[in-house]
Amino acid sequence: MSGRLNLVLPEVLSNPYPHFARLRRDSPVCQVEPGGLWAVTRYADVMHVLKNPQVFSSAGLQRSMLPSWLEHNPIAHSLLVMDAPQHGRARALVSRAFSTSMLTRLEPALRTTAEQLVSALVAQRTVDFLPALALPLPAAAVGLLLGLDPSLFPRFKRWSDDLGAVSATSESDHEGQKRIRHTIQEMEHYLREVVAERRRAPREDLVSALLQARVDGEALNDAELMAFLFLLLVAGFETTVNLLGNGAVLLADQPGLLERLRAEPALVPAFIEEVLRYESPAQSTFRLTLEEVELGGVRLPQHSVLILLLGSASRDEAYVPEPERFILERPQRGNLAFGHGAHFCLGAALTRMEARVALEALLPRIQRLSRGPEPLQWTPSIQLRGLSRLPVEVTPA
Ligand code: HEM
Repeated sequence: MSGRLNLVLPEVLSNPYPHFARLRRDSPVCQVEPGGLWAVTRYADVMHVLKNPQVFSSAGLQRSMLPSWLEHNPIAHSLLVMDAPQHGRARALVSRAFSTSMLTRLEPALRTTAEQLVSALVAQRTVDFLPALALPLPAAAVGLLLGLDPSLFPRFKRWSDDLGAVSATSESDHEGQKRIRHTIQEMEHYLREVVAERRRAPREDLVSALLQARVDGEALNDAELMAFLFLLLVAGFETTVNLLGNGAVLLADQPGLLERLRAEPALVPAFIEEVLRYESPAQSTFRLTLEEVELGGVRLPQHSVLILLLGSASRDEAYVPEPERFILERPQRGNLAFGHGAHFCLGAALTRMEARVALEALLPRIQRLSRGPEPLQWTPSIQLRGLSRLPVEVTPA
């Protein structure tokens, strides 16, 4: 175990990138802690894994979502942990419902929410950016998408934290297990209500579209539908919170960026792409080898669990020039923030729209965003890169 990089050590969490650069150079495929996972750090190797799902499986990871103490977890039956051919069928069904017109319908309501949140943030001057804007906007987006009552939106953080904690919860942590079971029941209760209502009276919304979607005459069954709604709540919430929070840190630390974006709002989409590359909100995803295989010159046994370090691949010097610099007008080459291939993020367009709407509301209203000298507190996660708090001072425009 000695000598292995531990991804959750505070000094690694505070700045993982020099550690990733060392791994890319010296041991691009190697075991890391916690758990002895096989880390894949180079862009080309990560792409190879994502392009070969017949060897590097997503379905094989289902077990980690259904530990022996948890008898029922809808997300363990979602498309995220399916392989072909089941994945193709489920993805085709939900993609029909998850359409561009759905995004167009959502945007005005999100813009209104963003403007209200920004007004309150500017009035307060000294705020924690996360509860002020980065958390409630994605909560509203997922909540409106799923048709949940706005009074439930503040619960999404706890829901997504609890579901995200399943694989890290030990056999002896009975309190943690109880909390997770309770959260699953609570989520199912509210989501079932929405599904039953939309069955009775369909609307122009995602759940109604999911109920109506057909591929070769087949619809989603109730369990598949619940699994997908759970997945949206988890995959779509904290990732976007991190994108907004990580973007705000860059605006605070590089005031020139904020000035530039205020002067040229057309650069907002380029800023979002570079934040996705530079501080990837989802730092990793996982795969299981179905057979013994060679990767990056290393022989991996059958049933090895791989952690694909997307945040490292997007900073691979063999793929991106000057990867350690934040370059606003970087010629786009496509980064790995949303994955690649069959499981490419279904919410990429939604999250980009949320970030654009947030910045378009924020930029005209603030002249400066400053943060104190205290170090940033990164959440101890091997999968997500985000902050636990972000106190800032706002100078209104
Ligand atoms: C900054 C925000 C986001 C990031 C960085 C992100 C990242 C990712 C990544 C890396 C994957 C691929 C996982 C894999 O290959 O194993 C993925 C899949 C997925 N994402 Fe996102 N995501 C974001 C936002 C969203 C949003 C807003 C939604 C929807 C509300 C969403 C829904 C999904 C779904 C359903 C999948 C599974 C697709 C499949 O398995 O076919 N994501 N996301």
